[in-house]
Amino acid sequence: MPATVLQTEHLTKTYRTGFWLTQKITSLNGVSLTVYGGETFGLLGPNGAGKTTFMKLVLGIIRPTAGGGTVLGRPLGDRLVKTRIGYLPENPYLYESLTGWECLELMATLHQVPPSVQKQRLPQLLDLVGLAQSAARKKTLRRYSKGMLQRIGLAQALVNDPDLVLLDEPMSGLDPLGRYQVREIILQLKHQGKTIFFNTHILSDVEQLCDRIAILARGELLAVGTLAELLGTGHTYHVRGRGGTQEDLAPWLDQLEYQGGFWQGQLRRSLPEFVQHVAGIGGEIISLNLERQSLEEFFVQQLRQRGYTQSV
Ligand SMILES: Nc1ncnc2c1ncn2[C@@H]1O[C@H](COP(=O)(O)OP(=O)(O)OP(=O)(O)O)[C@@H](O)[C@H]1O
Ligand SMILES: [Mg+2]
Repeated sequence: MPATVLQTEHLTKTYRTGFWLTQKITSLNGVSLTVYGGETFGLLGPNGAGKTTFMKLVLGIIRPTAGGGTVLGRPLGDRLVKTRIGYLPENPYLYESLTGWECLELMATLHQVPPSVQKQRLPQLLDLVGLAQSAARKKTLRRYSKGMLQRIGLAQALVNDPDLVLLDEPMSGLDPLGRYQVREIILQLKHQGKTIFFNTHILSDVEQLCDRIAILARGELLAVGTLAELLGTGHTYHVRGRGGTQEDLAPWLDQLEYQGGFWQGQLRRSLPEFVQHVAGIGGEIISLNLERQSLEEFFVQQLRQRGYTQSV
């Protein structure tokens, strides 16, 4: 059993708002989640779901209203454990007047990384995130493109060689090439054995990167598991064949198309029984395709089942 890196129990955050602070907003409601060592874990949810709130609670930037948890074996908010966590915020605030190199030096110094280690590590990080050494050393961040800023943001999240990397929407605002490159960086970190936890609402990123995912909406956890666990039950067979009449097949197939003795449709009932039925009517199955429910369909279904029709 891999080590538990992050565990929360009934984590809840309520904000008081309004002029008299009488209104309550529950950003997170009783979230219990476990992330294991070496996992790439995706927290998926629409806008306003509570993803950033969850991450800030894990980091100890804000305190829970109720519930709690541990990160790398220490209680949430523990000062010492922060040296073992890397964090890319949703909108990283980086000093615009610094060059990328200076920005990394500053972060590394704040993390008390010795200068001799910095000398080795910073060029490696620039290589990892694909930022040219010349751009990093000469250009100030003011002159960086969104993609370059996201890369330097990723690099600064790694200056302390963290065991756990928390990335809040790491692909946001990037063009397809930028997203591809960030995905490659995350894969490299995964191969280095790091535990990666990231927030996103981009389903394809989750499908390509994550060992496990959790779906969050309006502060509540709707589902947790591997893609296979979440989508495993939601499959259908698409069958094509010939023989028999339309009446023979209609009770068995949804979206039945029947033409000149050839037919196709989605199987509504059990496959072994259908195979027998087709043999009984003198027909033949030509092809059979397993069609899995997509993550997008699952995600929308989970939200609709709970009456969510739009994000906040
Ligand atoms: N400081 C705050 N005061 C009051 N409400 C807040 C505060 N921070 C967050 N919220 C509310 O908590 C809810 C969850 O916000 P959060 O930023 O965690 O969502 P998110 O899933 O990260 O959304 P997005 O995808 O847009 O980044 C929202 O309704 C938000 O308005
Ligand atoms: Mg957010």
